[in-house]
Amino acid sequence: MTRVTIRAPRPSDAGPYAEAVQRSAAHIRPWNPVEPDGLPDLMQRQGPGLRSFLIVDLASGGLVGKCNVANIVMGRYCNAALGYDSYVPFHGTGRMTEGMRLVVGRCFADQTAGGLGLHRLEINVQPENERSIAMARRLGFRHEGFTPRMLFLGGAWRDHERFALTAEEWPAPQ
Ligand SMILES: CC(C)(COP(=O)(O)OP(=O)(O)OC[C@H]1O[C@@H](n2cnc3c(N)ncnc32)[C@H](O)[C@@H]1OP(=O)(O)O)[C@@H](O)C(=O)NCCC(=O)NCCS
Repeated sequence: MTRVTIRAPRPSDAGPYAEAVQRSAAHIRPWNPVEPDGLPDLMQRQGPGLRSFLIVDLASGGLVGKCNVANIVMGRYCNAALGYDSYVPFHGTGRMTEGMRLVVGRCFADQTAGGLGLHRLEINVQPENERSIAMARRLGFRHEGFTPRMLFLGGAWRDHERFALTAEEWPAPQ
């Protein structure tokens, strides 16, 4: 049974979000910016190109993680890139994977059913980020290739491994 749910961030999440990000800074910092006060800005940037989801623990209401569905391009592409962080104390408990499965399902669901109507999703991961590569593989993403100097993170242009999944491949066998 799924232990989590997903929903859009709300203004009242700003405080718990800041605390969750601060608690999790040590494992986020090597791979993603640590921005505890970033939720209001993220909410303002929501639109056709960006949809963010919070992953919430059903039993406690605590924040398990966040997933940004970014660079959404519709038309003939229907493509987006997923970016995510998980938060202490739920980090490493399998809840983030459960939440990501819900996010991927929402991405591929038809717009008439409340989904985003996407056809292809990418996850771009730095080669040394083993936990995130494990996440991509658990979700059934295929390794497509290597993209040099792809994203500016931590003060430099970082190489990334590119993983992808199309709607035809979902749901992936678990
Ligand atoms: C990448 C990241 C989101 C992965 O999140 P996570 O919290 O490890 O995700 P999960 O807990 O769902 O991962 C499953 C792990 O929990 C374990 N687990 C523990 N209890 C479990 C349960 N009841 N059910 C399933 N898995 C369970 C799994 O075995 C797995 O461990 P393993 O990888 O050692 O085999 C997280 O490490 C993170 O925030 N990293 C920093 C930011 C980052 O790298 N973002 C991505 C950039 S591309």
